[in-house]
Amino acid sequence: MPALPMRATDLQQNIQTALDLTQHKPGSYCLPGQVADPVGPCAVVIFGAAGDLTKRKLLPSLYNLAACRLLPDAFAIVGFARAEMGTDAYREKLRQDLSAHATSEVDPALVQKLVERAHYVTGNFEDPAAYERLAQTLRQVDQSHGTRGNFLHYLAIAPNYFAEVARQLERAGLVRESAEQWRRVIVEKPLGTDLESAQALNAELRKVLTESQTYRIDHYLGKETVQNILVFRFANGMFEPTWNRRYIDHVQITVAESLGVEGRGGYYDEAGALRDMIPNHMLQLLSLMAMEPPTSFAAEAVREEKAKVLRSIAPLSGEKVLTHAVRGQYGDGQVGGERVPAYRREERVKERSNTETYAALRLQIDNWRWADVPFYLRTGKRLAARSSEIAIQFRRPPLTLFRDTPVEKLTPNQLVVRIQPEEGIALHFGAKIPGPSVRVGAVAMDFRYRDHFGLTASTGYETLLYDCMKGDATLFQRADTIEAGWGIVTPVLEVWKALPARNFANYAAGSQGPAEADALLSRDGRQWRKIEAP
Ligand code: BG6
Repeated sequence: MPALPMRATDLQQNIQTALDLTQHKPGSYCLPGQVADPVGPCAVVIFGAAGDLTKRKLLPSLYNLAACRLLPDAFAIVGFARAEMGTDAYREKLRQDLSAHATSEVDPALVQKLVERAHYVTGNFEDPAAYERLAQTLRQVDQSHGTRGNFLHYLAIAPNYFAEVARQLERAGLVRESAEQWRRVIVEKPLGTDLESAQALNAELRKVLTESQTYRIDHYLGKETVQNILVFRFANGMFEPTWNRRYIDHVQITVAESLGVEGRGGYYDEAGALRDMIPNHMLQLLSLMAMEPPTSFAAEAVREEKAKVLRSIAPLSGEKVLTHAVRGQYGDGQVGGERVPAYRREERVKERSNTETYAALRLQIDNWRWADVPFYLRTGKRLAARSSEIAIQFRRPPLTLFRDTPVEKLTPNQLVVRIQPEEGIALHFGAKIPGPSVRVGAVAMDFRYRDHFGLTASTGYETLLYDCMKGDATLFQRADTIEAGWGIVTPVLEVWKALPARNFANYAAGSQGPAEADALLSRDGRQWRKIEAP
């Protein structure tokens, strides 16, 4: 995270200059006054160079970093993919992909600068000769662009190839580090499909890569608001004293989507909502929200505190899965005024599919800060709105003073960290409604990022790529955290597999989710916040 290496003093200066938005071009990625050093000389090798992730996220991110002058002159991109293509054709493709997917209007001179640093190698992921060609190209790139043998290999490919590509890279000498040269590899979810497969993948990668070379991305950690949870908690004295079981009644973490599976039916029907969102994105949100203050922003300090949170979550027993986990699948319904089909009628989804498109869990973090505070997590497709947030509900104060007024019906204080789509932080509390009688109304103090910092267009991958090139692993997952995440959800997966759902579809597209999820909270005398557009 570029804001953090400069940390304290620079951050201060950065905040002050960033507030002067007079020169900020709406929609552009760079804020005026951003303070960060460019990365050192290196080549980014993209496996899966012709794929969707590359054109929609990676190239636009590299362009944005270049636009903020965070990439050096001694820089190169090397595409590696199965498609037959010469370097000229690849450069033309980059040009087209950038103009179609950049997050703001592109500057042709800057595109040219990036494109003339791009090279391409055609190859099969399993063919040793292809890696020899790649090594040869990288030697030339080192000569022509001065990249000094520093390589970032981005595996933007199907996960079943991760171990194979890592092995081949090792065999070709492309992940061997020295005092002068770094070599790093980025992989992205899904990293396994359960605890056992995640352990097996980690073990395979460990055979050829050190942990410090392995960068496991969770794209939620690239989101500004997610990173801001750390700053909000630890740079402000106001909330931390109340951030514990004494003052907090419970926490709700919601990642609701209004979209369906969008052509990814093949993958999704095998994965389901629980695997797709909970061991990764949602447990990341939970651990940032619940972790102890780290001793510094150094990668190990932050990652260790996050890991401790996950290790303190007791996996649900088979019996508890029946009462503490809820699954759902959407039927026909209406989203944003339009009729949409049931999940079972989506492309490449089995006609009688029993895959969940909604999952909710009640988890407990068994440590001194959080014992007895339930953490409710829910995520689903085709819900009423796109809305991701963490809501912290404080305990109710003694209300004797208000015994004869309707105040007892008011929702207790809530602090809501909104992650998307409208990023912000809101504090909900009660205030007196003007007039002679004491009546209390629910009001909110609402901070919206865009009012203060304007809208910056980013793909969410810029910080992650920048950090990896800098060698800062703070925002990446360690092997043990990935396994801890799977350890939490695997018992649920097992029970759900053994007892297929009998009541699917159990929520209408465009609704708040299944009634069973409401019951999960109402049994505890609580209720979900409404999922609605901001
Ligand atoms: C991905 C999931 O990891 O995250 C998708 O595979 C999901 O199913 C997506 O839609 C959500 O990401 P975001 O950034 O749109 O909240």
